[in-house]
Amino acid sequence: MALSKKPYKGCRDFFPTQMRVRNFLFDKMKRVAKSYAYEAYDGPLLEETALYKAKSGEELINDQIYSFTDRGEREVAIRPEMTPTLARMVANVHKELSKPIRWYSIPNLMRYEKPQRGRVREHWQFNVDIFGAPENLGESEILSFITDFLESFGATNKMFSILINDRQIVDSIFNKLLELNEPDAHKLYKVIDRAKKVSPEKLDQTISEILKAPKAIEKFKSYLKLASFEELKLFLDENELTKDCERFLNFINLIKETHYYSYLKFDPTIVRGLDYYTGIVFEVFDMHPENNRAIAGGGSYANLLQIFNESPLAGVGFGLGDVTLKDFLESHKLLPDFNKAESDVLIVYTEDTLSIDAIQLAEKLREKLNVECHLGRVKFNKIIKLAENKGHSFVLIIEKRDEVLSIQLKDLVKKTSMQVEHGGISEILKLIKDKA
Ligand code: HAM
Repeated sequence: MALSKKPYKGCRDFFPTQMRVRNFLFDKMKRVAKSYAYEAYDGPLLEETALYKAKSGEELINDQIYSFTDRGEREVAIRPEMTPTLARMVANVHKELSKPIRWYSIPNLMRYEKPQRGRVREHWQFNVDIFGAPENLGESEILSFITDFLESFGATNKMFSILINDRQIVDSIFNKLLELNEPDAHKLYKVIDRAKKVSPEKLDQTISEILKAPKAIEKFKSYLKLASFEELKLFLDENELTKDCERFLNFINLIKETHYYSYLKFDPTIVRGLDYYTGIVFEVFDMHPENNRAIAGGGSYANLLQIFNESPLAGVGFGLGDVTLKDFLESHKLLPDFNKAESDVLIVYTEDTLSIDAIQLAEKLREKLNVECHLGRVKFNKIIKLAENKGHSFVLIIEKRDEVLSIQLKDLVKKTSMQVEHGGISEILKLIKDKA
């Protein structure tokens, strides 16, 4: 039986057309990271499964991880996320590094998921994290970074919002207000995490099953209805939780004047499934009605280094998926036209004897331009079609007219052409460079 030509389920081939988009996205990521002084790092594709079991959360471990026993009987997994690897790497070197440590990476990750819009099995994830920043300042920088990154494509606060919450708020409600034991707190975390994905009736039913006491149910439901920082503040005051949640309230005060504040919205249902978060948690949501999903997610984690027996070092960061980013940019028409050729000019010739002239011209121009030299003669009436199919704006045509070499430069956008003097490299450069 013939083998399938399709890639493995939920994985993508990147043909040159898709690679152009990917390179465009990655270039932007690298540029913004550089502008914020974040340094690139990378780690291995395989890690010991125990690294994820420590703090990555049930869903990832039970349903999504690709794990197996290697030939040396070690339990290993293909990385489903980057944060544990990052923490492991930081744990090795943080004592020697001055703080804050600012690192970024664009790893490919594998999760066993049901492929659907915005969800694949292999995706690339822009990870940006800062360690050892003073309280709330790292959080602020990370939110500023992600806003600047999306704005660099032309996105505005009509297109995305940052839904934010803090695990300390949820913990203080669970411990002080509802006085939950650990197993019930755990169950209720899951309920919050799925609150938007289930029907209101189902939500009511599960809350009642866990909390039982009508007063507790009522309190918890009023928490779930909070829709702004002001409402949250009132709720905390009324329930004498303000002191426990002071850090978050200070944070909101601190960032009121920032350019990204208008993107933020308090959302009581944001808790995030990964176990390591200890402070703010956020998800960047696409506001397009047909693409209403998370483009990115992150938060702060104070204790992750402790799994390596290291002293605590506060970290905060986010992960942003290439698939969700592309869907977001497409939905809002923020992607440029990728059908254009990546080289600046196409050189063609009409007779086989002119191939060396074409190659020599290409060599000279390559000092300043990206040049595609067509190999093999092309009939004159086929040239424009060929150049257009390849997405070129400029074509240089080499012909022999009355035994004399002729070079013509055609601008396919303006629909103009000009005869280039023999050796007129600077003329060509000027015309094309002005346009490029
Ligand atoms: P996460 O929420 O699991 O966080 O993933 C972050 C983002 O990666 C999601 O919002 C989504 O855009 C993308 N993503 C995740 N899974 C898939 C998938 N199966 N297909 C396509 N895109 C996907 C984390 O992984 C944290 N480690 C992020 C982090 C970094 N927190 C702090 N630093």
